[in-house]
Amino acid sequence: MKLKLLLLTVLAFFGINSYAQNNSNGSKILVAYFSWSGNTEYVAKYIAEQTGGMLFRIEPVKPYPTEYTPCTEVAKAEKERDARPDIKNKVADWDSYDTVFIGCPVWWWTAPMIINTFIESYDFEGKTVVPFCTYAATYRDETLARIVELTPTANHLKGYGAVNRDTDGIAEWLKEIKVID
Ligand SMILES: Cc1cc2nc3c(=O)[nH]c(=O)nc-3n(C[C@H](O)[C@H](O)[C@H](O)COP(=O)(O)O)c2cc1C
Repeated sequence: MKLKLLLLTVLAFFGINSYAQNNSNGSKILVAYFSWSGNTEYVAKYIAEQTGGMLFRIEPVKPYPTEYTPCTEVAKAEKERDARPDIKNKVADWDSYDTVFIGCPVWWWTAPMIINTFIESYDFEGKTVVPFCTYAATYRDETLARIVELTPTANHLKGYGAVNRDTDGIAEWLKEIKVID
């Protein structure tokens, strides 16, 4: 029994380390995302697994309606009034991260307004921002560009847009931008 436990501990140690070693430049990575129906969360988890990054789910104080049409209406109204929906949670130890992935679904041709709230809550000076999004069909590039536009003091790496929760191509992209080997 003791031997089994020891073996499991050793395996767990090497398992965790192999993630950390994936990250090619040794930088500390945060993968921050907002997700309403789970696609962006799925992609964010995949990115975190690949990079050894820490996941942070951006959670609204007031949850969005769970039905699709009411959710689109709330999202549209927020966009029209340039809203800043409140966020429930805070990134712990923000200063320790060098690289911040910021991900969201495309909502009404751009990033949801809660992404503005998130970005305006932190200092991005000296950080490297990597935008990503998930979308059904349109406005991928505009959404990635919006995240770049909202973080003018950061450096940026090329972003990525996944159709729904399709992760094919993400590992190649992470290699291309040299976040993993
Ligand atoms: C309010 C709302 C607006 C949307 N607007 C767009 C859009 O402009 N273009 C698009 O391709 N998909 C749009 N979609 C689809 C989502 O971007 C897509 O399903 C995304 O993967 C959902 O991510 P999530 O599961 O993380 O919430 C919209 C979805 C919602 C709920």
